Amino acid sequence: MEIKKVFVVGSGLMGGGITQVCAQAGYNVVMRDLTDEILQKSLGAIKWSVGKLVEKGRVTGAVDEIMSRIRPTTRMDDGFEADLAVEAVFENVDIKREVFQELDRVCPKHAILSSNTSAIPISELSSVTDRPDKVVGTHFFSPVPMMRLLEVIRTISTSDDTFESVIRWGESLGKEVVRVNLDVAGFAMNRINIPSTIEAIRLVEKGIVSIEDIDKGMRLGFGRPMGPLETGDMAGLDVGLGAMTAVYNETRDPKYAPPELLMRKVRAGHLGRKTRIGWYIYDEQGNKTGVAPLPI
Ligand SMILES: NC(=O)c1ccc[n+]([C@@H]2O[C@H](COP(=O)([O-])OP(=O)(O)OC[C@H]3O[C@@H](n4cnc5c(N)ncnc54)[C@H](O)[C@@H]3O)[C@@H](O)[C@H]2O)c1
Repeated sequence: MEIKKVFVVGSGLMGGGITQVCAQAGYNVVMRDLTDEILQKSLGAIKWSVGKLVEKGRVTGAVDEIMSRIRPTTRMDDGFEADLAVEAVFENVDIKREVFQELDRVCPKHAILSSNTSAIPISELSSVTDRPDKVVGTHFFSPVPMMRLLEVIRTISTSDDTFESVIRWGESLGKEVVRVNLDVAGFAMNRINIPSTIEAIRLVEKGIVSIEDIDKGMRLGFGRPMGPLETGDMAGLDVGLGAMTAVYNETRDPKYAPPELLMRKVRAGHLGRKTRIGWYIYDEQGNKTGVAPLPI
């Protein structure tokens, strides 16, 4: 199947990024969120990012032309023309199941439905639809316009045509695709990454290594552009906790059990860059100004 029109549900960090890379690649995108205010904020962030990429010569085309391919909406019914709907709402299985039921109702019968979930098994979402053969996972990485990787995940019900069509679409966005042949919680990359992030938090929790040294060590010793705690602040500590919880709930393997310190920080609203405090503290412009005090 050929994907031409894309419907993105959720215009946050990830939904906005997915919308942006689609528009940059020439797709018409309808982007849905709950309020006009949220949509306007997201459009502003997309325009800024497209402007930077065009300025650096990393994206060709005029900013206004790229932006004109994006149509914001608060109405779910505006997915009626989509060939592919990408869900990127909060990492909460009940909210996502509700969204999938709505997408199944409003999207054309031929449309593929995908989720950008970090860790929830895709079959928990496809099971609420009447088209489980047309449901896949499309796991982008943050920040979407910069990160080349896309995991495409199939369930036992996903058809070959759905899987291959979405892989071709991902490649057309300039992404390198990793194929994941079963929707185990956490898929492939988070299954590998989560235990090391948990170990980093436990070392901080026990006072063995400082927050800054964890990040410095992983940057300098392993060539990562950002350490795990800096990455956690960017992604959102709540998003990270949600991913760990999903993998732990499915596997009951203690290596995926979320650390108490992380749960306490999320409860306190220390969610990272978006609340200006996570493992680090940020000023209004988003510049790092220090390390968050521990214990909280
Ligand atoms: N943040 C990351 O680094 C990252 C990486 C990979 C995957 N993910 C996953 O992507 C998804 C989105 O994460 P995010 O970081 O963009 O979250 P976010 O909080 O930045 O954005 C979520 C958006 O969804 C909107 N929303 C909620 N319910 C909605 C509905 N019913 N219809 C339309 N919009 C709705 C919210 O208003 C919000 O704007 C999550 O499943 C997350 O686990 C996140």
